[in-house]
Amino acid sequence: MKSQIINGKAKAAQMRLRAAEAATRLREDHGVICGLAVVLVGEDPASQVYVRNKSAQTREIGMNSFEHRLPADASEDELLELVATLNRDPAVDGILVQLPLPQHMNADRVVNAIAPHKDVDGFHISNVGLLGTGQRALVPCTPLGCMMMLREIHGDLSGLEAVVVGRSKIVGKPLAQLLMMANCTVTVAHSRTRDLPSVCRRADILIAAVGRAEIIRGDWVKPGASVIDVGINRVERDGQFRLVGDVNFNEAAAVAGAITPVPGGVGPMTIACLLVNTLTAAHRARN
Ligand code: GUN
Repeated sequence: MKSQIINGKAKAAQMRLRAAEAATRLREDHGVICGLAVVLVGEDPASQVYVRNKSAQTREIGMNSFEHRLPADASEDELLELVATLNRDPAVDGILVQLPLPQHMNADRVVNAIAPHKDVDGFHISNVGLLGTGQRALVPCTPLGCMMMLREIHGDLSGLEAVVVGRSKIVGKPLAQLLMMANCTVTVAHSRTRDLPSVCRRADILIAAVGRAEIIRGDWVKPGASVIDVGINRVERDGQFRLVGDVNFNEAAAVAGAITPVPGGVGPMTIACLLVNTLTAAHRARN
């Protein structure tokens, strides 16, 4: 069987075009230039790359990007003060504090200091609670991107068996909520799950979000299943560094009906969804 390779890069590019049109309408019809503030504390190399990409794509679609950098030894109070300033700033529609934060900071306290209506990551406890109770929320970007890809593959997801491997606050838990809201039968598996391969083999939709290179093997995949790989792992092969997902791509692609590659699958969709969330926040603030 030859599986469909889901091109997240192309789909994200389409979404950015639509987001650019929406940003233009906001500017022309309401005189509003949408703004996203991204806060980076410290110098984690991966975080620097993510923040640079987020800012560049924000500007590319005609929105304002406000980048704020604090040194790794900044105090939590300094960061909370910056967040409070951004909360009050009418030019800022969305706020994202890049994670992870340095050890001496309490990430929950910082995230929960963001005004919920500007929390474009969807990590604030209010947005988590709203999503969990099926109310209008800002939804975390990676799960949102996964759902968009699944809807493109399947259309209606009702009744499908979905297995989410990974129970993180950022991906696994919110994605399980979204899949339930889409009427899937949802299993959340994790490091203590007994016989993970046979749990995975039940899945019509298999989501890998554990952060372990290529742990999902081809014979864990039900023939024809849709496989969404959220993992981005840097591994050394033959003296060279490569990015691989949580799924062994070649093995799984021989069995799956559809599969996302790494890179070029879920990753680009996440940033596109961040832009969409910022536009959503801007609209909601004015309606
Ligand atoms: N670090 C890794 N992924 C994310 C994300 O989606 N949002 C934020 N704020 N930090 C991250």
